[in-house]
This record gives sequence, C-alpha cells and structure tokens, in this order.
Amino acid sequence: MARPTNVAIIMDGNGRWAVRRGLPRVAGHKKGVQRVREIVRACPDLGVETLTLYAFSTENWKRPVIEVAALMRLFRIYIRMEAAELERNGVCVRFIGERSALEPDIRAMMAGLEERTKDNDLLTLQVALNYGGRDEIVRAARKIAAQVAAGEIAPGDVTEARFAEALDTRCPDPELVIRTSGEHRTSNFLPWQAAYSEYAFVPECWPDFTPDQFGAILDEFGTRERRFGGVEASQGGPA
Ligand code: IPE
Ligand code: IPE
Ligand code: MG
Repeated sequence: MARPTNVAIIMDGNGRWAVRRGLPRVAGHKKGVQRVREIVRACPDLGVETLTLYAFSTENWKRPVIEVAALMRLFRIYIRMEAAELERNGVCVRFIGERSALEPDIRAMMAGLEERTKDNDLLTLQVALNYGGRDEIVRAARKIAAQVAAGEIAPGDVTEARFAEALDTRCPDPELVIRTSGEHRTSNFLPWQAAYSEYAFVPECWPDFTPDQFGAILDEFGTRERRFGGVEASQGGPA
C-alpha cells in the first residue's frame, strides 16, 4: 500500500518536553510551533496532501489561565509569522472547531488566513482550534435538526453523507492519525472522520518529532492491511 495522502496529528507532549528540561511548559509550546513549521514544510515531499493538526481542544480551557493565554498568544504569532510563507508555498489553511469562544482578533486572523490561502492546492492544512469531536457532532446535529424543523428535509433524508457535510471538515477522512508523547487515546479528535483510520502512537514528545520520523511512519503505514470490515482476497474474500 502506498503512503497515506490524508494524515492527522495529535501534537501531544509539549508540556512534558519542557518540564523534563526544567523549563516552563510554555517553552514546550514554543518549540512545538517550530515543529509545526517543519512538518508542514515537509508534507509536499512526503506525498501528504491534507494534514489536520490538533492545536487546542474544547477541553484545553481547563488548563491554567496563564497557559491558555500563552497558547492563544502563540496562535496569533504563528498566523502572523507564517501567513506569507503558507500563501507562497501553496498551502490552503482551514480551521475546524468552534470559533465563537475565541477572541475576536484571533477569529479575524483565522478568517483572513483562510481567505488569503483559499485558492492554494499543494497542501490543505486543517488546524483544529477549540475543536472537540463531540462538540462538532452536536453542532452538526443542530444544523440538521434546524433543516428538518424548517421542513427543508425529512428525517429520512439524513444520511451519513449529509451528516458528514454538516461537520466542520472539508477534506477526505484521515487514513492515518499519529499521536506523539506515548499516550494511547484520541482525546476527542475526529471521532467521526477517523472511524476507520489507522493509528500510530509514537513515544517522542511533539517538540522532538522530526520530518524523518514522520516519513518513517508514513512508510510503515504502507505495510498495513486495511480491511474496512471486509475480507482480503488472500484470506478468502472476493477478488
Ligand atoms: C500538546 O502538549 C499541546 C496542547 C494540548 C495545546 P501538552 O501541553 O498536552 O503537553 P503534555 O501532554 O502536558 O506533556
Ligand atoms: C490533546 O492533548 C489535545 C491537543 C493535542 C491539542 P491533551 O494533552 O489535551 O489530551 P489529554 O488531556 O492528555 O487526553
Ligand atoms: Mg497533553
């Protein structure tokens, strides 16, 4: 099997990376932003066409106010510093997640970057910011319920395809989801879209995750057998 073209990453372990070095957690987040830059740059050469990055979850508001503020500051800096390069390098940026809880200036920057890069097609970068899979599903259900209540569609018109359209994502489902830092859980990331994704859990914290390692994981994906509930031809399934 070939390398995956649609990949999602749970960028975890920034805090531990910093604490192990006697640094404040925010130092790990800063280093993490540098990794984002490198991994995004590496995507076209690695054959990745859509990359979805988990940057801030709907549950991350539970963190100390000072850490949340530092993360928001880093999002602003990232957008400001990277916008020109992303635009120049053919990256189309889209944000997924619930935006109304974010500060108006960040929302405006997000919308500006989306608008500025919307015609690019070398790489689609989906950034999950204030994203929670359950929240996304509930918001989609509300949209559909409103259409039913307005008489625009009947309950029987609600199909998987229509439901998927009501979600935030506009890209093909990820074939592979990678999580760094050795944690083996999904933490509310893409529960609908990753229903049949392969997973790769790597021990390195996100600030230590390199493009070379990324490439090695993509190669390993090529050795996997995906069955989607069926049976391989070699095991007696239909040819
Ligand atoms: C991931 O690193 C970044 C965000 C969740 C924003 P963490 O901050 O979760 O790092 P650990 O898991 O505490 O080490
Ligand atoms: C998931 O990591 C969210 C992001 C990477 C943005 P967390 O560190 O928040 O997840 P838990 O709390 O360990 O499950
Ligand atoms: Mg974490």
